[in-house]
Amino acid sequence: MLAGGKGTRLRPLTIHTPKPIVPIFNRPFLHYQLDLLKQVAEIDEVILSLNYQPRRIEEIFGDGSEAGLSIRYVVEPAPLGTGGAIRYASESLGESVVVFNGDVLTEVDLAAVIRLHRERKAKATIVLTPVENPTAYGLVETDAQGNVTRFLEKPNPDEITCDTINAGIYVLEPDTFDRIPKDTPWSIERSFFPSLIERGETFVAYVYRGYWIDIGTPEKYMQVHRDIMDGRYHAAPFSGESQRAFVSPLARVEEGAHIEGPCFIDDGAVIKTGARIGPHAVIGRQCHVEEHASVERSIVWANCRIGQDAVVRRSILGRHCHIGHNAVLDADAVLGDKSVVTDYTRL
Ligand code: GDD
Ligand code: MG
Repeated sequence: MLAGGKGTRLRPLTIHTPKPIVPIFNRPFLHYQLDLLKQVAEIDEVILSLNYQPRRIEEIFGDGSEAGLSIRYVVEPAPLGTGGAIRYASESLGESVVVFNGDVLTEVDLAAVIRLHRERKAKATIVLTPVENPTAYGLVETDAQGNVTRFLEKPNPDEITCDTINAGIYVLEPDTFDRIPKDTPWSIERSFFPSLIERGETFVAYVYRGYWIDIGTPEKYMQVHRDIMDGRYHAAPFSGESQRAFVSPLARVEEGAHIEGPCFIDDGAVIKTGARIGPHAVIGRQCHVEEHASVERSIVWANCRIGQDAVVRRSILGRHCHIGHNAVLDADAVLGDKSVVTDYTRL
């Protein structure tokens, strides 16, 4: 699992929280990925390839026993890029390796991907998924037999020839890793994959049309919460119950507060009289939403205080933020941990 990036596009959220553990509701993101890997009997160990704030991640997952998987950590001395990280983390491995970008959420059938890889005796198998705009991804062209014929990372708009992109999930044969130089930053997308095509190696595509998202930008981070609340991706506590207002039994919602589903209110949160929560609001642990404040289509991390009559719309708040009374946040604001917005401020 490649989980060593700096998460720059999610800043300021990722200043103190590396991307693999940003919360989705009340669970660090990686948990959702581990749930998928756990379903594949053949996967007996997960290696987390880390660089940015590795200790924070290790503290959460430990040896993996709680998550139900064996987890090992490989920390690069300096960022080696996606290709360099794969080589560095796979040094002692002789078997086929499943590589997963640490920021994608999907329901792809990994066992079927591994099966295809074996059947085709491929050197590499890559999962592709269709998107509307491939410019933020790796564009991948294939032929009629499902072989990869071209890989173009972050294409310009005039270079778009198809809608299938690299979903960030591969099965690779380690005997190809000697093409990645040792201890040198190297990109799997820009160098390794194009080199496989150039040499005519068996490089196979598995096209997946189900749920897939890369959570690496504030828009997508918001969207994944919406998708779960609306039932487009099945995860607790919303599985099969879209439009649900989930209120933790350990939260306190005062009489006269208005809760509109779908929304999520975590342990220890206090919602005061006249406050409005939802739709599509996530209120983190121990947050206080004061009288007549309103939060909708927003994600609020733990320990924030939203003052009286304040309005928070279409925004993301890091931990321990303080929004003064009558303040209005209404423009895709993304606030880092401990931000203070003074009374009556408009953002
Ligand atoms: N260990 C390690 N070291 N991990 C890294 C490094 C590194 O130097 N650089 C990036 N990563 C990890 C990130 O943490 C992330 O989980 C994954 O590698 C991919 O990096 P991103 O920075 O998120 O790449 P991207 O989203 O722009 O593009 C990649 O993913 C797309 C799908 O989401 C590419 O693989 C695209 O081709 C692909 O379409
Ligand atoms: Mg990404």
